[in-house]
Order: sequence, then structure tokens, then C-alpha cells
Amino acid sequence: MAVASDPPATAVRPGLAELIKRLRQCTGRASEPLVTAQAVAAVLTELRPTPRLLTAAERAGSADGYTRTTLHAESAFSITALVWRPGQLTEIHDHLVWCTFLVLQGTETENIFDIDGDRLVRTAQRQRPAGSVSGVAPPDDIHQVHNAGDTVAITLHVYGADLSKGTSVRRNYRMRATAR
Ligand SMILES: [Fe+2]
Repeated sequence: MAVASDPPATAVRPGLAELIKRLRQCTGRASEPLVTAQAVAAVLTELRPTPRLLTAAERAGSADGYTRTTLHAESAFSITALVWRPGQLTEIHDHLVWCTFLVLQGTETENIFDIDGDRLVRTAQRQRPAGSVSGVAPPDDIHQVHNAGDTVAITLHVYGADLSKGTSVRRNYRMRATAR
């Protein structure tokens, strides 16, 4: 279960104002969703935001499930930080909009799935250490993110929607998954 919290003022989040400015430049152009996701990945790679975007209390996470802190939301995009204690994971899901994420701390394991008839098949598993950036866009973006490590992991997600008005998740998949 994700736990949401209210963010403190933007001024206490180092690098956030510059990140918002650069993201407005690449989300303001008319592009295919995957092209926008890749442009956002390039911005995250260049600016290298750090875990200091979050307060110490936010970086600690929660025993109740991974935490989600929305740092910024406007019509074209939202910026959200997720904190994962060891063992915490999402459901298997896909998205309504493009999403790009950067691992700020720790390592995330990402499982990628395909639908095969009435079965869900895991087609790949990727280890994403701190500093890695990944951008995806629907369709064919069914995945699950898992902190399989033994330290707290933090990820920064940029979504192509105003998440103050709803979720980025299209669907959670509760069917059984098998490995290909
Ligand atoms: Fe996702």
C-alpha cells in the first residue's frame, strides 16, 4: 500500500525549481509520449537530482508500505518521489500516461510483463541501481517495481499528467504471473 504525505514548501527542496523549469521545456512540445519520456530522461540524467529533494523524515519511508510524496503537479506533468523500505513493492500495473523514473538511492528491481491470452508472463527483470533512468509509455508498459535490496531505496518519477487530479495507473493486474 502506498502512503501519501503533504510536501513542505518548494524552497526547501534543492534543485526542484530548476527541474520544473527544464521539464516545462520538454513537455511543452507536441511529441509522441515515448519521445517526451525520453526527453525527460535526458533532463534527469543531466540535472542529477539527489535524495535531498526529500526531508530526512520523508527519506525514512514507512513500515506500512512504500511512500509517495508529490513534489509538484501541473497540467502537463507531475513529479513524485517514492521511498521503498526493503521488501516493499507495487502491484503489477500499467499506466495511462508516459512515465520516466530515476533511482536516487539504493537499487530497484523492475519486473516487466506481457499479456499472453489470459496469462501474465514475466518477460524481463532489470536491476536499476542509483543513477539509472528509465522512461516508458503505454501501451506495453506492464511492470512491477520492487525494492529487493536490504537498504532503503528512493525513486523520482515524472508522469505526463496532473496527479493532483487522479492516478497514473491504468490497471492493477491481479492474475497469476509466470516467467517466460
Ligand atoms: Fe509504474
